[in-house]
Amino acid sequence: MSKRVACINLPRQKDAAKKADVTQTIIDKNIVPDNLKALFAGKYFYIKTFGCQANIRDEEVMAGYLTLVGMKRTDNQKEADIAIINTCAVRENAEEKVYGEIGTFKCNKERNKNFMLVLAGCVMQEEGIAVDLLQSYPWISLVIGTHDVHNLLNLLSEALRRKQSLINVRSFADEIIENMPSQRLSSYQAYVNISYGCDKFCTYCIVPYTRGRERSRAPEDIINECKKLVDEGYKEITLLGQNVNSYGLDLKNGTTFASLLESVAKLGVPRLKFLTSYPSQFSDDMIEVMAKYDNIEKWLHFPVQSGSTSCLKRMARRYTRDEYLEKVRKIRERMPDIALTTDIIVGFPGETEEEFADTLKLAEEVSYSAAFTFIYSARQGTPAAKMEQVPSEVQHERFDRLKALIDVTTAKHSSTMIGKTFDILVQGPSKRNSEVLSGYATNGKLVNFKGPAYLTGCIVPVKILESHVYSLIGELAEDPLVLKAKDVAFLMSKDPLLKEYLALDENIRSDASIKELGDALVREKKAMGESFMDKDIHEAHKAEYEKVLEAMKNHPLLANRNELMSLVEERLLEVRDYLR
Ligand code: 5AD
Ligand code: SF4
Repeated sequence: MSKRVACINLPRQKDAAKKADVTQTIIDKNIVPDNLKALFAGKYFYIKTFGCQANIRDEEVMAGYLTLVGMKRTDNQKEADIAIINTCAVRENAEEKVYGEIGTFKCNKERNKNFMLVLAGCVMQEEGIAVDLLQSYPWISLVIGTHDVHNLLNLLSEALRRKQSLINVRSFADEIIENMPSQRLSSYQAYVNISYGCDKFCTYCIVPYTRGRERSRAPEDIINECKKLVDEGYKEITLLGQNVNSYGLDLKNGTTFASLLESVAKLGVPRLKFLTSYPSQFSDDMIEVMAKYDNIEKWLHFPVQSGSTSCLKRMARRYTRDEYLEKVRKIRERMPDIALTTDIIVGFPGETEEEFADTLKLAEEVSYSAAFTFIYSARQGTPAAKMEQVPSEVQHERFDRLKALIDVTTAKHSSTMIGKTFDILVQGPSKRNSEVLSGYATNGKLVNFKGPAYLTGCIVPVKILESHVYSLIGELAEDPLVLKAKDVAFLMSKDPLLKEYLALDENIRSDASIKELGDALVREKKAMGESFMDKDIHEAHKAEYEKVLEAMKNHPLLANRNELMSLVEERLLEVRDYLR
């Protein structure tokens, strides 16, 4: 390794399998190093993320740290002073995209000697990758592992101080970091991590090596984060874990995912969902909680991976085909309208035609409302990579057959929606036509309909008119202006300041001492009016009246209201500007 590069930690796949006895929670202090601030305050950062929601959440956190430095986000790669490529390793094609991406930042470095390129995410957790990258692409300043997102600022600062490129990728982590800043990508949809890592070690999967063993966040930290989002008026929360159903097992205090889900549902967020479920650990309690709360979406992503018991065994999935189908039966018995989606891997090592036929049969039987289908991709260091591989042509041919079947079940599910009205969370104007809005129904389906862009972020009723395989077409079932007004009313009802003001107003109305003062004020005013012929008596009442007035001015509740009033006025002006 040249002097230009310093390795603080390098990944070792063996370390990733180690499980800590206890997980420590560390509260991050959000300290910003001076040298970073001096160089980058007021400058721009750019982040490109590949992969799943865990990576998206990491992007939001890294953006949060860079915002602490005083930096601003840009979508224009060319103007970036710091750029982060946040990589995904789950399949080979995702990994390949990274290499093309790194090259495009060379000119940033040529134009701007202070430019820093950071490589983050799951690919960096693979043995050997980071060192090779730094040798091929000398304009990389930092390679950071998934366990060190909270160390982003320190590491950037250290790289500057040493005038070297740094690699810091740990494979083992026994901690959970709380109080990380975050700049969320949406103001109406939020992801909340409930656990990190995975203990399942499915034989095809690289995630346990790139994200480490499973560590659950404390329920109170999750609930506080969700409560804050509810107070900020978020419309949808997605609870995230590689395997949400094993949430809490490591806390060893009886906390389960079902109990956590119920606590979050009770906070009253309009839409609540979770990713990803592990079929055999999806408990009866989960079915009950899902059925009980209207705000929990009646959509379950239920990855089967294969419909063949023998293939599932080679995948080290801990359920059989029949056990999976039995879970589906139970779920549908309690929630007949639930939409089920899945992940399926085609061409897993050793997959026979009979095994694949079992997958087709299962997909048809469950009749998924949508499915993500993947061609098996060998991941270095995973057990399946050493098994007997299925030829690529066979994989592709099976993939096409499965895809055709999934298209049929997807279309079948979509067609059942025609004529019905669904609540749609609007994502904004569609890319192809600015007059058409796109949004998601609570069953996960994408719906397009004509409407104004100001409905972005609102939940609106849409009647479904037509269905296509991957999307539906509908029409707004209410006047868009009325819907916007309802949305503003919703947001105002969540505003902590307005809530405080209304609560205070309620206290003032029921406060006996204020009522007494009010009565005295009316009494003295009346007495003043009646005594204007007698100067002395009139003056006495006037003095009394003024005394009461003064007492009212000094009453703590009333004084508090006056103070809040000016803030409320400011907030109402913000609402006016929002509506303009
Ligand atoms: N090859 C293909 N697909 C994979 N997945 C995970 N690992 C692999 C792999 N090596 C799929 C699984 C998982 C989804 C997120 O990605 O179906 O559920
Ligand atoms: Fe990977 Fe299996 Fe864990 Fe999912 S449950 S992240 S597929 S190891």
